[in-house]
Amino acid sequence: MTCARTAMNNAEHERNAVSTILTYERRSSAVHPPNDSPGYRSTALRHPKKPLVIIPQTLSEITGPAYPYGRLDVADSDLTKQHPGEPLGERIIVSGRVLDEDGRPVPQTLVEIWQANAAGRYTHKVDQHPAPLDPNFSGAGRTLTDDQGRYRFLTIKPGAYPWKNHSNAWRPAHIHFSLFGTSFLTRLITQMYFPGDPLLPHDPIFNAIPDPRGRERLISNFNFDVTEPEFALGYTFDIVLRGSRSTPMEE
Ligand SMILES: [Fe+2]
Repeated sequence: MTCARTAMNNAEHERNAVSTILTYERRSSAVHPPNDSPGYRSTALRHPKKPLVIIPQTLSEITGPAYPYGRLDVADSDLTKQHPGEPLGERIIVSGRVLDEDGRPVPQTLVEIWQANAAGRYTHKVDQHPAPLDPNFSGAGRTLTDDQGRYRFLTIKPGAYPWKNHSNAWRPAHIHFSLFGTSFLTRLITQMYFPGDPLLPHDPIFNAIPDPRGRERLISNFNFDVTEPEFALGYTFDIVLRGSRSTPMEE
């Protein structure tokens, strides 16, 4: 490990913070939700029932995918500019940093988001919630963290939506996040929530995280420094990849 680190430059080392080591650590941590969470019924169907088989990693697993860095443009991180017209709803800015357990920035990490529109409807054939689709909003974006681990999205505040987990079940407003490290094996997924949402205490997915401090870390902070006057409210959501302050992730 020491030799490997010596051979890596800092950027490579920090990118590798999103590593398979992380995957191991998060499974052993009380920060992250358990495989089975009875309140969130479909978790019973979402994890292996047998012990995992360790498959030797080859270059294909530990070096791919190669991001099409040159193809990222403004519209990828500005979800309000992906169609000819303006989407309906409340414009918001969501920004933050991706950090390792020591607070060091994780640069050049692909951050992807997906979300419902302002009416609480996904642009997806499976979502048949009787709320309107917005022809000017697809609800998906991506960007790379900069040298300081920062990312920024301009989007629309998502609406709450019903789901069939139990009677009168509603998901609090949320944005799904995916982080890619250096390979497919290092992808991490989580959800960001909004402060003051009255649905949070009733949401089995949010409450599947055992530690209240972990749940707190999934709630973004309203931030006047990120807010742009006459334009959009700003929220900050920092993501810590490992350690005791790590952001809870989904399996
Ligand atoms: Fe969702």
